[in-house]
Amino acid sequence: MENLIRIENAKDHVGETVTIRGWLTLKTGKGKLLFLRVRDGSGIIQAVAFKPDLDPELFQKLKHLPLESSFIIEGEVRADERAPGIPGGYEIGIKDARIVQEAEEYPIGPKEHGVEFLMDHRHLWLRSRRQWAIMRVRAEIIRAIRDWLDSNGYLNVDNPILTPSAAEGTTTLFKTDYFGEPAYLSQSGQLYNEANIFAFEKVYCFGPTFRAEKSKTRRHLMEFWMVEPEMAWVQLDELMDIEEQFVSYIVQRVLKNKAEELKVLGRDTSRLEKVVPPFPRISYDEAVELLHEGGFPDFQWGDDFGSPHETYIAEQFEKPVFVHHYPTESKAFYMEPEPGRPEVCRSVDLLAPEGYGEITGGSERMSDPEKLLASIRKHNLPEDAYKWYLDLRRYGSVPHSGFGLGVERTVAWICGLDHVRETIAYPRMLNRLYP
Ligand code: 4AD
Ligand code: MG
Repeated sequence: MENLIRIENAKDHVGETVTIRGWLTLKTGKGKLLFLRVRDGSGIIQAVAFKPDLDPELFQKLKHLPLESSFIIEGEVRADERAPGIPGGYEIGIKDARIVQEAEEYPIGPKEHGVEFLMDHRHLWLRSRRQWAIMRVRAEIIRAIRDWLDSNGYLNVDNPILTPSAAEGTTTLFKTDYFGEPAYLSQSGQLYNEANIFAFEKVYCFGPTFRAEKSKTRRHLMEFWMVEPEMAWVQLDELMDIEEQFVSYIVQRVLKNKAEELKVLGRDTSRLEKVVPPFPRISYDEAVELLHEGGFPDFQWGDDFGSPHETYIAEQFEKPVFVHHYPTESKAFYMEPEPGRPEVCRSVDLLAPEGYGEITGGSERMSDPEKLLASIRKHNLPEDAYKWYLDLRRYGSVPHSGFGLGVERTVAWICGLDHVRETIAYPRMLNRLYP
């Protein structure tokens, strides 16, 4: 194929004859002119067929080509400010074309479809511009996560998915059979991270995690991706310092490298531009006061924040806000209680602005073996399964902390999406395991 290029690089080939492989996404015409919107993985470009320039049979074939047919075109790249596309500004004057497959009638049209219909056709819906933009932002977020951690001294150590015990409470476990023994899909790699820091000090794991969340919300998936950094020698204040550097880096990287995609999504980026350190920090106590003053007079100290509470608290600030020192009773068994005030623990959640809710959850971990054993018993967890975890406190225990950032919620926030179902290619939800 002569001079094969991807659409995103058309700008570097003005005046040249190039070959493009792709799919037909839109077709309009006027007399001797036919406008074919061609999509490849990298973008969309307008290809123009001018009847007098083409073999008459080919012109007819293109004129009747169904949407989503695959084809290869050859033509000259022209700069034209008005040309639509991603990025716009360039078009191709078709000289020749070869149809690879003529598509059947495509089920997704330009008319409005219901969400369930689109979810049933997720395997096709992914081809749409909006989904294309979201998946590319997601990939950039993942690259930014890895780049920041890899270049700040964190070692990537991946932890098991099949596990013998719960990390985040027993109510959301997915149980499976491991040759006659029960096994659970990982809810979090944290407990293994805590072992890994004693070998490598700063580590992270990154992979899918599973929670049988029996509620239907805009923020919960059954299978979601979480990056979990864990650090030896780090306490609560430093944990927040690290998180704000990390989250700011991710947001600024997307703004810099994925402007075209954010434009496709119609994202107002003014609030995202403000996401730079430092972030405000308030205690759970202070958050409760804010709620009491702000239209939630009945909120009880000790309760978990629901989504309206999180949104209200976050809206009092321009940037993401840390809420620290949650009630010990409401949090996981491994969190370090505050010395002198054991009813709260050294935990911290980061709430995103604009109502996107909790995007990170983390804490300082209990480092004393006796206290940890007491907590495991108090939570009615099977002691035997946590023997190895207790060992970590018996051989050179140190203060340590870590957090988990949910990729899908971060994508929803940065892209400005009102539901996490569009943030992952094939979402697993309460009533959905297809496709
Ligand atoms: O707050 P969580 O449950 O924290 C942990 O799992 C810790 N073990 C992490 C750690 O300290 N290493 O979950 C962390 C983040 C949440 O803030 C949220 O962004 C995301 O994971 N998350 C979910 N995202 C989508 N669907 C769900 N069902 C989620 N549950 C948590
Ligand atoms: Mg949490």
